[in-house]
Amino acid sequence: MMQTKVICFANNKGGSGKSTSCSNIGAALAAKGKKVLMLDGDMQCNLSLSFLDEDVVLDYARGKQNLYYAVREQKDIRGYIIHTPYENVDLIPSSTLMSSIEFELFSKWQREFILKKMLRAVKESGIYDYILLDAPPTLGGWVMNLLCASDHLIIPVEASPWGLFGLANMFEFLQTTREIAPELSLLGIVITKVDERKNYFRQTLESLESLEDIHVFESHIHVDSSVEWAQDNSRPVVNYRRTSRSAREFMLLAEEILQITEGAEGGAFHAAH
Ligand SMILES: Nc1ncnc2c1ncn2[C@@H]1O[C@H](COP(=O)(O)OP(=O)(O)OP(=O)(O)O)[C@@H](O)[C@H]1O
Ligand SMILES: [Mg+2]
Repeated sequence: MMQTKVICFANNKGGSGKSTSCSNIGAALAAKGKKVLMLDGDMQCNLSLSFLDEDVVLDYARGKQNLYYAVREQKDIRGYIIHTPYENVDLIPSSTLMSSIEFELFSKWQREFILKKMLRAVKESGIYDYILLDAPPTLGGWVMNLLCASDHLIIPVEASPWGLFGLANMFEFLQTTREIAPELSLLGIVITKVDERKNYFRQTLESLESLEDIHVFESHIHVDSSVEWAQDNSRPVVNYRRTSRSAREFMLLAEEILQITEGAEGGAFHAAH
């Protein structure tokens, strides 16, 4: 049985494509037959809105069946899982109260590892192939919790003049986090919102590829109005318009992720047999 992999999507730069990447890679992995649990770690509830109608998301956000309450009460995450209308995709919704999560964490024992402990049972059960976490555009105790609970990090970077701004802070934060979570690996950077009519894509790609030891995924995600139409309809674009450019790119990106995260295990399997 494959071990459950936990992947966090984080970047302190707002609007870099974290929620869009997280939701669509989740949907793409599910379409490939993987069982996926999505955790919405942002008060904006964008990940939840990618799978559920707004009124349903608001009901969860106002109630107690959400990640904020789970963390506040330090409960096993399994009691907070809901099914989405999509096969193989489960979700733990967020709440606007997430805005005060730092305050909740402050007084708790071993506060950087609260989420990791809450995920332990579901991870060990092996029910899910992947658990994907959508982080807010901040760097603080809560994002450190998300990273400490993760095996891997994916950083979506927008192909724009300001897309790279602040990335150094993200790397520094990752280094600090690794002091207490040494196993955490940076799986790679995904370049999002690529508009080939602009030069920024080439510039962004060159800047990122010049960084040592940092993998840049081959699949880039282009600007595509289908992404917004899909979000307007509370659906991942992978399910909403399967033939759209972005849907195909997300499927290819999911394939790259599968190869990196499962390739090593496959290799170990072959070596041992
Ligand atoms: N490939 C794309 N084509 C067109 N629009 C996109 C694409 N990817 C993302 N967007 C749009 O860009 C905006 C930001 O994307 P998204 O919400 O995924 O970023 P984020 O990093 O999660 O933002 P935040 O930091 O606020 O959490 C959204 O309005 C989304 O619809
Ligand atoms: Mg987001």
